[in-house]
Amino acid sequence: MSLEQNITLSTGASLRQIGLGTWLSKPKEVENAVEIAVRNGYRHLDLAMIYENQDEVGAALKKVIPSVVKREELFMTSKLWNSSHQPAEAEKELDQTLSQLGVDYLDLYLIHWPVAFVPGKGLVPPHPSKENEVELDLKTTLVDTWNAMIALPKSKVRAIGVSNFTISQIEALIKATGVVPAVNQIEAHPLLPQDDLLAFCKEKGIHVTAYSPLGNNLVGKPKLTDYPAIVEIAKAKNATPAQILIAWGAYRGYSVIPKSVQEERIKSNFQQVTLTKEEYEAISAVGKGNHTRFNIPYNYQPRWDINIFGEPEEKDASNPVNIGA
Ligand SMILES: NC(=O)c1ccc[n+]([C@@H]2O[C@H](COP(=O)([O-])OP(=O)(O)OC[C@H]3O[C@@H](n4cnc5c(N)ncnc54)[C@H](OP(=O)(O)O)[C@@H]3O)[C@@H](O)[C@H]2O)c1
Repeated sequence: MSLEQNITLSTGASLRQIGLGTWLSKPKEVENAVEIAVRNGYRHLDLAMIYENQDEVGAALKKVIPSVVKREELFMTSKLWNSSHQPAEAEKELDQTLSQLGVDYLDLYLIHWPVAFVPGKGLVPPHPSKENEVELDLKTTLVDTWNAMIALPKSKVRAIGVSNFTISQIEALIKATGVVPAVNQIEAHPLLPQDDLLAFCKEKGIHVTAYSPLGNNLVGKPKLTDYPAIVEIAKAKNATPAQILIAWGAYRGYSVIPKSVQEERIKSNFQQVTLTKEEYEAISAVGKGNHTRFNIPYNYQPRWDINIFGEPEEKDASNPVNIGA
């Protein structure tokens, strides 16, 4: 049985609890992956300008709309990239995303990161004097960008939200504008449960979507799907480790967007597995004393010289986030 659990956002719109991630899905792979996913019941797609594959996603959408689904049956999320945070840029990038995808509107548009880059120099503008670093825009504030998101035409964007935002950053947006993001998309898995941020979002009516639910990491650490405790529970339930990790996220009530470009995985990741309280707690225990955030832009190549999360790895960053309130 597929996990067809629906979640209702503060806007009244609903989305499927399990969606398909598309980061690092290469050209040709992603077209195939999206088509397979939709044909097998996925209705929630997670996309972004920076994934540089939205044209391919658009090609897949042409194959499934309207023959398999109507546009309105899909929930499509995309994200405003850092180099379009400036109010004059935001709608231009949105239009580009819509044109790449070949659709008239997005169901959800997120500010991808609480970090602005200088505009007009490509998606990852090289710093003019510092090698292997991006050129940040330290003047455009989060509140400036949030106001630009609020001003986007409702005909093009049904709901707006944020991604990778902390409690204080979201509080500042709400205080400055009175507009509460519908969603915060964050890294969350047993090594990074983010309990405080989840509780805050719940209190504010902000839906959380968990990215990297399988603990995707590009830093050579063991994959969560290989952790003995996860493998053991998977075996006992005749499930895959990935299904167990997805079920762990679903147990916590948020939406989960595992990425795969492999047909069998796309299908099996969507199969419902439910956990008992004991199983949920055993999986949570994997993260005790093992706090790990994989996605830290200060560690990227090229580096973003900014402290976003207050993680120890970011302590040498020169710049704080410019919240603007
Ligand atoms: N907002 C943000 O800043 C942000 C950041 C990161 C990610 N995201 C979104 O969240 C999505 C998911 O996160 P993610 O891609 O970082 O990581 P993830 O979904 O946790 O893990 C993806 C990795 O797991 C593999 N995988 C998929 N299914 C598997 C299975 N059943 N068994 C074993 N391995 C499996 C995939 O390889 P194969 O493809 O070869 O199967 C890929 O290497 C992204 O694709 C993107 O849409 C958002």
